[in-house]
Amino acid sequence: MPAATMDEVVALCKRRGLIFPASEIYGGIANTYDYGHYGVLLKRNVSDAWWKAMIQERDDIVALDSAIIQHPKTWEASGHLSGFSDPLVQCLGKCKKRWRLDHLQEAAVENGEDPAAVKCPQCGGDLTEPRAFNLMFETNIGPVQDESSTVYLRPETAQGIFLDFKQTLSYARKKPPFGIAQIGKSFRNEITPGNFIFRTLEFEQMEMEFFVPPEEAEQWYEYWCQERLNWYVKLGINPERLRLRPHEADELSFYSSGTSDVEYLYPIGWSELEGVANRGNYDLTQHAEHSRQKLEWKDPQTGKGYLPHVIEPAAGLGRTMLALLCEAYDEDEIGGEKRTVLRLHPSMAPIKVAVLPLLRKDGHPEKAREIYEALRKRMSTEYDDGGNIGKRYRRQDEIGTPYGITVDHQTFEDDTVTLRDRDSLSQERVPVAGLADLLEAKINA
Ligand code: GAP
Repeated sequence: MPAATMDEVVALCKRRGLIFPASEIYGGIANTYDYGHYGVLLKRNVSDAWWKAMIQERDDIVALDSAIIQHPKTWEASGHLSGFSDPLVQCLGKCKKRWRLDHLQEAAVENGEDPAAVKCPQCGGDLTEPRAFNLMFETNIGPVQDESSTVYLRPETAQGIFLDFKQTLSYARKKPPFGIAQIGKSFRNEITPGNFIFRTLEFEQMEMEFFVPPEEAEQWYEYWCQERLNWYVKLGINPERLRLRPHEADELSFYSSGTSDVEYLYPIGWSELEGVANRGNYDLTQHAEHSRQKLEWKDPQTGKGYLPHVIEPAAGLGRTMLALLCEAYDEDEIGGEKRTVLRLHPSMAPIKVAVLPLLRKDGHPEKAREIYEALRKRMSTEYDDGGNIGKRYRRQDEIGTPYGITVDHQTFEDDTVTLRDRDSLSQERVPVAGLADLLEAKINA
């Protein structure tokens, strides 16, 4: 069963050092988290899977890593300076806290209350009229802090791709339909009700802009909606907890002729994992106008040019991790004792195999280390000889390690070890020779 509450996942992540609040020694900082050892490995597995699907397994998408701080005109052209804002209200009562009006109103509707009469959820005070609050973080280049030196931390990676469209055409030998993909940090000054890493101030996006002939836009939009939904199934998410939700007409950005969210049934309810949007030629038109550069694709045969339309699958690395963690979280019982286990798909597990000597004597540790050192050349492996064997297995179960290998007395008689399966708890004897091949076959099955 997946996690019933977000708190279960938060507690496990903290206990095992996957993800924990940032700046904790100073009391933490709002909506900001650090990723520890196993969290970093899990994050790497997710981003590697995305790169594999976008780049390695295709020949129509190229990679990019653009700057976080771009020319400030970027955000004027994209519309982020004028329109990237949330409606905020401030408490006039005791606590003076700021809230997102749309969030308060949604909660009121869910509770059968009047959305027009919302009060401060913390102290019950009256609220101000809403005010548009821009989500971009500002900073300055150089020593003088005035308007001319103001720049912004990017609120999405997508705009860097549009700025480099022409540059990419000049070297990549691609023509529409083709895509440019990048993974990187984005920053938004979010006012949020928490929910762990679902909505944070800084977060990694995995975005791909797919440039297509205008008449093919609709068909590519449908294609990417399906393709992206299937990707999450491959990572181990049950399709019953995934859905594609087309935006209603009043949710669509003015330039979009279609957007669908890939949603996951998190413990907080159905929420967005990724957005797939048909952006038309809005972004290239805007940047062409503001930069006074031609951003067309020109057919070398006919000499005719056009502005491609863009289909954009935009995913969040943190939200994907959170979905995987919620999906994998489970509790069961072994020998009357409660066990918490992360049933992650083996390809996503931070550690693929743990090598454990049964005893800390009789040559067990030396033999186990020998096996560990051979395996770690091929996969992420951990050696553990601390505590009784049951406790060591429990530790690995909690970080989602799919396989455990135990060296025992019999190992010295016939060069075999016990291979334990995290989910079925089956234990079989397998030869030490060929262990890495056997494990790789299981992980990639
Ligand atoms: N370029 C389009 C774009 O940025 P978005 O829906 O605002 O679209 C895309 O963001 C994805 O980025 C979201 O589906 C979500 O996974 C992730 N994301 C957005 N804001 C986030 C935040 N504050 N914290 C964590 N992830 C976020």
